[in-house]
Amino acid sequence: MANRGGFSSRIGFIVAAAGSAVGLGNIWKFPYEVGQNGGAMFLLVYLLCTFIICFPIMVGEIAIGRHAKRDAYGSYATIGGKKWGYIGLFGILCGIMILSFYNVVAGWAFGYFIEISFSNLLAETSFSEFFGRYTADFGDNLIFSVCFMIITAFIVVKGVSGGIERASKILMPMLYVILIGLIIYSLTLENAMDGIRFYLLPDITKLNAETIYSALGQAFFSLSLGMGALVTYGSYIDKNQNIVGSAAMISIMDVSVAFLAGLLIFPLVFSQGQTPSEGPGLVFVALPGVFNAMGPLVGRIVGGGFFLLLCFAALTSTISLLEVPVAYLVDEKKLPRKAVVWGLAAFIFVVGLPSMLSQGAVRAFSSMSWYGDKSFLDFVSEVFSDISLPLGGCLMSIFIAVRWKKHNLSEEISHGFPNYKGSIHEKIINTMITVISPVLLGFMFINTV
Ligand code: PHE
Repeated sequence: MANRGGFSSRIGFIVAAAGSAVGLGNIWKFPYEVGQNGGAMFLLVYLLCTFIICFPIMVGEIAIGRHAKRDAYGSYATIGGKKWGYIGLFGILCGIMILSFYNVVAGWAFGYFIEISFSNLLAETSFSEFFGRYTADFGDNLIFSVCFMIITAFIVVKGVSGGIERASKILMPMLYVILIGLIIYSLTLENAMDGIRFYLLPDITKLNAETIYSALGQAFFSLSLGMGALVTYGSYIDKNQNIVGSAAMISIMDVSVAFLAGLLIFPLVFSQGQTPSEGPGLVFVALPGVFNAMGPLVGRIVGGGFFLLLCFAALTSTISLLEVPVAYLVDEKKLPRKAVVWGLAAFIFVVGLPSMLSQGAVRAFSSMSWYGDKSFLDFVSEVFSDISLPLGGCLMSIFIAVRWKKHNLSEEISHGFPNYKGSIHEKIINTMITVISPVLLGFMFINTV
């Protein structure tokens, strides 16, 4: 194989993959999903989905990528033949569509950083009204999401270890620090405990099919699974890396950031008398209130800092989303990396325009009668992430069960995990991937359709 580049160390891979996982999914999407789906019950189901279903799937994806040393399509195709490559192609399509709307939301976060730091967002009388006005304003959205896509492309051009790894290493730890600081502050607010109760005390009556589907979709989205991102990143790592250990660390980092985000948001929501089921605006409405209460200067610094870190978290995710189709065109079509990156970035940006216009700017995209009056952004996010990612995970596990076979998976994992074969880890992972996941996910998919 030609020199494809690779991560420079084990930590480099873990940090980059965790950077892919940790993003808007944890800090923006997770809290509002919890708020809309009954609080603690959602959290519980989400944790179960993450550790029982998603963790083994993550191991499988990384192993496939490392074994084949190719992009998402090429990995399935080299191991299983051209037909199986369609699983990879489907993932690449999902990645493109996810990035198209993700970049729009990242643009909001970027805009909030600018508006809080350099303008007077914190002096607004209603943050909820402001959010509505802001997301409906095409001009601002356009500028900020163009910037975001350009920064993403710029880093992806530099290749895996140059850009992706270095950026992630510095920024991830900072995110933890600011989150924990803000949580301590928010817990001192009045009625904060009502928020904690909502978030941590499960109410069994809230358990229904809707909660389970949303939690499953959220777990896949948050861990960047089901669309080839980890197949692609896995293709850049060494044989002596322990895939199971790395996947465990990535999952724990991802879950802990989501958990902390909830711990921050719900005390704020309850202490400010807002409704937890507010939807996609939740963090954009709840957080400015607390920054405002810190006083003009401190609020500007802490608030600006928070949204800047959110942008960085989103950036390490957009990088991985763009890398998936880029790796495909570079590996399979032998196109030059630089041209591919800029061409795809422009294309995906254009695909994202209807999502950008769907928050009130253009009525036809904001409330689509053929789709239950929901917005185009909801449509793309539901179809290409909530439904397609678990489906992608299901197809991957079927691939391992019937085509690649579990003994080959074990062989690949054991390169970096000497006593893996015959261990309890092997039994659990094989059973989860080849039996439980295909059956459970397949059943759920048929049910949704
Ligand atoms: N996991 C990212 C997040 O939580 C989103 C993402 C999904 C990234 C799929 C890559 C692939 O924000």
